[in-house]
Amino acid sequence: MQNPEHFFHNIMELRDWAIRILSADTLEEKLLSPEHLTDCDPGTPLIFSEPIRPAGMQFQRHNSCQKLPPFHDHRHPDKRAVCLHRFAGHELLAVEIMAHALLAFPEAPKHFRKGVANTLKEEQEHVRLYITRMNALGLSFGDLPLYRHFWAHVPHLTCPIRYLTVMSLTFEMANLDFAPLYGTSFAKAGDMESAALMQRILEDEISHVSFGINWLKKLKKPEENEWDLWEQNLPSLMTPSRAKGFIYHEDHRRKAGVPEDWIQKLKMS
Ligand SMILES: [Fe+2]
Ligand SMILES: [Fe+2]
Repeated sequence: MQNPEHFFHNIMELRDWAIRILSADTLEEKLLSPEHLTDCDPGTPLIFSEPIRPAGMQFQRHNSCQKLPPFHDHRHPDKRAVCLHRFAGHELLAVEIMAHALLAFPEAPKHFRKGVANTLKEEQEHVRLYITRMNALGLSFGDLPLYRHFWAHVPHLTCPIRYLTVMSLTFEMANLDFAPLYGTSFAKAGDMESAALMQRILEDEISHVSFGINWLKKLKKPEENEWDLWEQNLPSLMTPSRAKGFIYHEDHRRKAGVPEDWIQKLKMS
């Protein structure tokens, strides 16, 4: 028989899990991933103005000195580690924004919430993978400043459509270009492990964008066009071009099920 203590540790309500993630002051708690998640009592909307962060991992002011190392510097392992640290920071923000979605939209369809929870678990895994790789390159997570970035848009995420618009269909969509861009550069530098990690991230990101598109289709009115709805729901200061990188991968978007008219409109944006 299963040890009852083990069982209770591995079963948790989505709401309790999300609260623990946003209140966590250790990285271990941020990355807590119960085996079984239930959603019997989603409660009323709960908004964290900011996530609690482990010591040394609080949001820092961003300034231009902290730009990512240029591509020609990727031949230096310490510079690649800086990139991986930044990406891990983005993944941790994704974890927290997904926890926000679970707390802010208790009335969203159960399947939507379950999908957000599954994606959140993958983002936690991405944090772990980046940590392992940056450690191999001599850096620890938290050694460099971490920024508010995506969290600045949380006040705009007032409904599932806006969450999908900003998270899945803008930031995650842009990663369909940025992950392979960095992967190619790391491979050029001879770092095949970091390149393989970026490939893994790309594959997961395709499925995260696919989640976004599928739910946008389910939540929209039949007469609404997906692109128009997305554009209307972007925050006022965010332009469509935020959803792509310098090299535009139409094929990755097709794999994610992005409608063809969207792919062409974004290309021209
Ligand atoms: Fe991720
Ligand atoms: Fe993702």
